[in-house]
Amino acid sequence: MSADSGQSIHGQWSNKWMFILAATGSAVGLGNIWKFPYITGENGGGAFVLVYLICISLVGIPIMVSEVLLGRAGKQSPINTMMNLGRQYGGSGAWSFIGYMGTLAGFLILSFYTVVAGWALAYVQRIASPAFHELPLEEIKGSFSALVSNPGELMLWHTLFALITTVVVARGVSDGIEKLVKYLMPLLFALLCVLLGYAATTGHFVQGLEFLFAPDFSKLSWDSVLVALGHSFFTLSLGMGAIMIYGSYLPKDINIGKTVVIIAGMDTLVALMAGMVIFPIVFANNMDPGAGPGLLFSTLTLAFTSMEFGGFFGTLFYLLVAFAGWTSAISLLEPGVSWLVENKNWSRAKSAWLVGLLCWVIGIGTVLSFNVLADFKIFDRTIFDNLDYLTANIMLPLGGLLIAVFASWFISREMQTQQLDGKGGLFTIWLWTSRVVAPGLVFVIFLNALGLLG
Ligand code: PHE
Ligand code: NA
Repeated sequence: MSADSGQSIHGQWSNKWMFILAATGSAVGLGNIWKFPYITGENGGGAFVLVYLICISLVGIPIMVSEVLLGRAGKQSPINTMMNLGRQYGGSGAWSFIGYMGTLAGFLILSFYTVVAGWALAYVQRIASPAFHELPLEEIKGSFSALVSNPGELMLWHTLFALITTVVVARGVSDGIEKLVKYLMPLLFALLCVLLGYAATTGHFVQGLEFLFAPDFSKLSWDSVLVALGHSFFTLSLGMGAIMIYGSYLPKDINIGKTVVIIAGMDTLVALMAGMVIFPIVFANNMDPGAGPGLLFSTLTLAFTSMEFGGFFGTLFYLLVAFAGWTSAISLLEPGVSWLVENKNWSRAKSAWLVGLLCWVIGIGTVLSFNVLADFKIFDRTIFDNLDYLTANIMLPLGGLLIAVFASWFISREMQTQQLDGKGGLFTIWLWTSRVVAPGLVFVIFLNALGLLG
């Protein structure tokens, strides 16, 4: 396929649903089920959730439209897309900085993502074993700290998950995955409904919902606002090129705006459901909502060991969480791998194994940050916390800001209207949220979190 046939050399989605499924596969992942509940707990609940929802609507959605638009206009890896579009519309290849920073962010995120997905695999093994359900309550409660204090076991699952991710990317993101997404995502949703039913019986359902939805602004600091903003990028896979490269395989007759709203809507729904399941269990068991990264595992493990058919539901649930993480992990590797294929003329397989190995090595830092290196802190944060903070709160919002500015101010009106339906009021809304509102919010939140606005 040559560039003038209007397709990416890496291929094209056969229809609109393939894109929606792949992008949803990228978006819905550990960010929704693991990260959203624990950062909501750490940042005080309702007010944080409200800010997060505002960020999704005013920042995330317009930037996602921008990112898909650039991908479809450029049809290459994010680095080369930004290089070419930058030269053509922005007067300089320096815009490729967005692609480089995003590709790097993808590696750094993947390095800890495989560790966390590994926790889900570790819990598949635990919950599937009947003996685990017979353990004394204290031991079940302590199972997460026991897991993360064991670097050997963490390494094992981290390695396994990194392997299954690399294998798929090495073969090329195939339709096989989209078919799986089509069946397994609804199944994950169904299981969340089952868990919601359980949460409703804990006697603390209302308290959980209040925590999640009743805003108490006294609990909100600028740092929490930055975390909410960063998470809106992380959860929608924005600001690092994953959505850009998926957009590059998008046929030209598809309406970007509508598909983006569907994807963001599904992502938000899954996150809110995870929260509605977890917080009632937290309060019913007198647990601490701010317990940190182990929150998902410590709460649901209590649920699965006490509910009817918990062994079955629990095994299936953690498998599906790992699956959701898998389809996200694949998209984290794509920007780097597609660039190596384009620029170094390497095979997909070689590129994928190299990048996979690199991420696996960096991931060892995260593995150790929960045990041996738990006291090794830079800026008062562990290795894992630093990787998370740097990527979600700095690199992704910065990348997203530049993407929105470039797509809305620099791309020609002709190209914009060719990519988006340029006549309607929705176009105008996209244009001005991308030009002013989204970059402005990111900028103001950055300045405040840095303490520069007092
Ligand atoms: N969106 C994914 C999640 O919520 C994580 C991710 C971030 C994937 C960035 C790709 C790019 O789990
Ligand atoms: Na997500």
